[in-house]
Amino acid sequence: MNEKMLDAINEQIKWELYSSYLYLSMSTWYNSIGLQGFANWERIQAKEERDHAMKLYDYVLFRGENVELQSIDAPPSSWESPEKAFEFQYAHEQEVTAMINNLVEIALEVRDHATYNMLQWFVNEQVEEEDNARTILEKLKVVSGETGKGVLFMIDRDLSTRVYAPSVTPPA
Ligand code: FEO
Repeated sequence: MNEKMLDAINEQIKWELYSSYLYLSMSTWYNSIGLQGFANWERIQAKEERDHAMKLYDYVLFRGENVELQSIDAPPSSWESPEKAFEFQYAHEQEVTAMINNLVEIALEVRDHATYNMLQWFVNEQVEEEDNARTILEKLKVVSGETGKGVLFMIDRDLSTRVYAPSVTPPA
């Protein structure tokens, strides 16, 4: 593989693992404030992010290259409110989308069509990732109005129903 491409994928593995770490931290925080439904949702999100990292990890191995795992920073551990946490998450996902787009640009630049194809999965996934975060954020903005806590607990109950369903399959 082209070195620039490989370095960028190794860097992305780190960011996917950081995302996993970030959402696990959010899950921990939601648990600490009694919102177990939100905690469940983020715990599953953390698992999905690890799957994203492993999809890239397996791809690098599949191409006969070496994965270079990098240091992962500690994530924040608390937020002002669920709304602020989801604002943070939405902004984070937009950053991840920009990183994926950058990977696609590199794949085009170095004419690595196999990697370009693999990355299309991430391009589509990011549309869903941003939509998930934005949809919940919009609901939370309603909560910050007069109806307040009752709606918050309804959202919490809703988020408690999320179940983990692996969306990533290893390379053939
Ligand atoms: Fe792996 Fe949420 O992007």
